[in-house]
Amino acid sequence: MSHILSARQFTPEYHAEVFEEATEMRVMVQSPEGRRDLAQRHLGMVVATMFYEPSTRTRLSFESAAVRLGAGYISTENAGEYSSAIKGESLEDTTETVGRFADIMVLRHKQTGAAEIAAGVNALPVINAGDGKGEHPTQALLDLYTIHNEKHRLSGLNVVIGGDLANGRTARSLAMMLSQYEANNIRFVSTPDFQMGTDVKEHLNWSGTSFSETDDMFSAFEGADVVYWTRLQRERLDAAAKSPEDPAGHVSPSAFSIGQAALQVLPADAIIMHPLPRVDEIETSVDADPRAKYFDQVENGLYVRMALLDQILTDL
Ligand code: NCD
Repeated sequence: MSHILSARQFTPEYHAEVFEEATEMRVMVQSPEGRRDLAQRHLGMVVATMFYEPSTRTRLSFESAAVRLGAGYISTENAGEYSSAIKGESLEDTTETVGRFADIMVLRHKQTGAAEIAAGVNALPVINAGDGKGEHPTQALLDLYTIHNEKHRLSGLNVVIGGDLANGRTARSLAMMLSQYEANNIRFVSTPDFQMGTDVKEHLNWSGTSFSETDDMFSAFEGADVVYWTRLQRERLDAAAKSPEDPAGHVSPSAFSIGQAALQVLPADAIIMHPLPRVDEIETSVDADPRAKYFDQVENGLYVRMALLDQILTDL
């Protein structure tokens, strides 16, 4: 069964295939004939979107992708409260149930490793749409697709990844995907309490990807090709760490905000990315800068997810 669980499971050859198909999807979606052809492709198939955590882009893009491919979708947007999970049903039993109704399950869950548990039930292909502090592999694919489109290469890049790296799953998945390409150099920008997990750093060492860690965002921006910025994951912090007068003395990375001063140091051909939602870590005045690509990422997510659903539904 073809599950999508981790950024680590794919090869650059697979990425290239997905990107080529995503670009075909973009072209087709933009013409009336293309849209009509796509809408015939997976008639009668059903995608289930089970979201146990909030989502705007991920859930809506998967549902839009399903509809554009002619499939239908069934959805629970607050599965923690509105599905039988609140009554104490296990994820395994819920997955078994969804397998009786749908052909693919797109799962977002609070618990790290949840998608793997659901995949283990073997009821239907499972796509990990974010598992706690674990991974978000389809976000990493759309991020990589955006870098590929904008920079025309995926190797030999200086990539700055900043923000709450201890709790953000998109940064983790992207770093691991970048490590599959030659000569990338990653600069992690965060405070000591919010640094990238040792498991990801060990993976980078193992793959021979050079990286450094700093709390100086301005020096990290010098010579950068890509800046990937993330928000403080407040919902994953304990109550103490959420407060500005944090008694534990945590220094939050929310001080790292990209504004006009940061734009001055950033090279003219760099791109600024963010998985969104943005809170205050990128000022809205940056949106008009031609280097800001975060809303293009959102649109790319639709085409990449169409390509992924198309491949899995075709193989069923
Ligand atoms: C991210 C997520 O849910 O991990 N959002 C997304 O899917 N684009 C990032 C975040 O919530 O900060």
